[in-house]
Amino acid sequence: MQKSYPYPTAEDIKLAAQQLQAGKLVAFPTETVYGLGGDARNGQAIASLYEAKGRPAFNPLIVHISSLEKAKKLGVFNDTANHLATRFWPGALTLVVPRQTDCPISELASAGLPTIALRVPNHPLAQQLLTTSDCPLAAPSANRSGHLSPTSAQHVRSSLPDVTVLDGGQTSIGLESTIIGCLEARPVMLRKGGIARHDIELATGLPLEYLPDEEATNARLAPGRLARHYAPKAQLRLNAINTEHDEALLAFGADIPVHHEKMLNLSPTGDVMEAAANLFAYLHQLDTDATNIAVMPIPNTGVGEAINDRLNRAARGRS
Ligand code: TXA
Ligand code: MG
Repeated sequence: MQKSYPYPTAEDIKLAAQQLQAGKLVAFPTETVYGLGGDARNGQAIASLYEAKGRPAFNPLIVHISSLEKAKKLGVFNDTANHLATRFWPGALTLVVPRQTDCPISELASAGLPTIALRVPNHPLAQQLLTTSDCPLAAPSANRSGHLSPTSAQHVRSSLPDVTVLDGGQTSIGLESTIIGCLEARPVMLRKGGIARHDIELATGLPLEYLPDEEATNARLAPGRLARHYAPKAQLRLNAINTEHDEALLAFGADIPVHHEKMLNLSPTGDVMEAAANLFAYLHQLDTDATNIAVMPIPNTGVGEAINDRLNRAARGRS
């Protein structure tokens, strides 16, 4: 039966940590989206994670740890990985690196790949859960596979009604982490996310390559990219400059075509960070009573690139 902990206390976190140690799953907030956590060393816990999400087992999971020091016990960090981790952790960056030879993480969490995706999250509840449980936590976004990602405990409850959730309110970034592959000296962008491409390029001084979905998938570099993703029930129409009578409007900026009854504005001031934080929550909201959603153009700058990535995938629908 689902338990929910609004404003979790140290005692609540201890109970949640005990559940994780016993191989159970617990949903918790991170600064990006809510994760559904399980002990990454425990194959049965990982199997139940894939099952709870209805996730195909070829799609590996991100392992969350509390520090870079812990991460180095699991994966091999080259100079670029070291540099990026030092610059951006804790934060919305996931690094894919080779597994250490004695890596204790379940092969199922890596979907049999010789690599591992690692992230140190920057959220006090996530950090407390990691340190109290002392478990590396595999944590995919806490939603049924293919559905919109959860940015509040309420989203988790409606997608996964039987799961225990630590309620930390709305997440601040609202988009999943940026994933960077550090398998060779030159880093590769595997998923666009909460840290903008430009910031990572500035940190490394190297341009980031982003392979098209098919190529990245065939090379088994980014197994998750072809999976159905981020799909609301409603049909999305992107780059809309006007609306049809039966459409709700997901607006951006001050210059809105017509005043619209069913309208939510991602950022009236045109701030892409604010728009990212609101994106999934507003899609969830409009999706409850609209079958068609017109989405205004979002600039492709900063995290706007990741917003457009999610919108494009959402517009492709679930079929
Ligand atoms: O912000 C986030 O990253 C959130 C929070 C909860 O941390 N987590 C998240 O997890 O978005 P998930 O499972 O929804 O996405 C994990 C992504 C998938 O696209 C998967 O294919 C990729 O990480 N991934 C995991 N391990 C990988 C590996 N070894 N090589 C390449 N991609 C990997
Ligand atoms: Mg996800």
